[in-house]
Amino acid sequence: MIREHRDSSLRYWNDIHKSQNYDRGSIRTDDWLERFDDIIMRSEKPVLDLGCGGGNDTLYLLSKGKQVIACDQSETAIENIRRNFPEVKEAICFNMLDGFPFDDEAFEVIIADLCLHYFGSEDTKAVLGEIRRVLVPGGHMILRVNSVNDVNHGAGHGKEIEYHVYETESGTIKRFFDEEDIRLFLSDFEIEYLKEETMSRYKFEKRLFRVCVKKW
Ligand SMILES: C[S@@+](CC[C@H](N)C(=O)[O-])C[C@H]1O[C@@H](n2cnc3c(N)ncnc32)[C@H](O)[C@@H]1O
Repeated sequence: MIREHRDSSLRYWNDIHKSQNYDRGSIRTDDWLERFDDIIMRSEKPVLDLGCGGGNDTLYLLSKGKQVIACDQSETAIENIRRNFPEVKEAICFNMLDGFPFDDEAFEVIIADLCLHYFGSEDTKAVLGEIRRVLVPGGHMILRVNSVNDVNHGAGHGKEIEYHVYETESGTIKRFFDEEDIRLFLSDFEIEYLKEETMSRYKFEKRLFRVCVKKW
């Protein structure tokens, strides 16, 4: 990712996390992880919540009694997590593009909810390589990413700087996946679940893919 996109992304997400002034009572879980409860409950290691943002998934995992390591590039998001969820095992601020500050095979389950669609192809592959490195063999990543049909949230809008990657008005970049892209990027994993669906968290419906993969 070029420096400009990376700086814009940090600025954009810090502004969002400041403006939303999250407090714990206003954070809602959503039910997308329920389908994978068996996998989540089996994990004996802490669960990694990548790109945790306000902590919707952190809250879900804590409600299931899991230990959680929450991570984000945004220091504001991490401050909010530390304030709202003092019970998280760790809240760590790092940029996924700089590599992950974890040992090999540190996790059995990684959640990556709406945070892996902000990169060009080379960066996407590098981030997925880091995810693979820190997963145990047989470990799972459960994720959601933008669909190419997510027209309410930018699919097909703006300048296409790479296949399926668009520059937004705020100077950030967004990738929109089709099923073929997902199968290609995740070819080093076994796909156990893959479904395109609609999410209603935002004012306008969002189209995305819900995916669960296993490291073989
Ligand atoms: C759409 S929010 C998703 C938040 C949360 N996972 C959820 O679904 O509610 C995307 C989050 O990914 C984070 N993010 C984006 N690019 C990142 C990067 N390169 N490294 C770490 N975090 C990043 C953003 O700061 C933001 O908090």
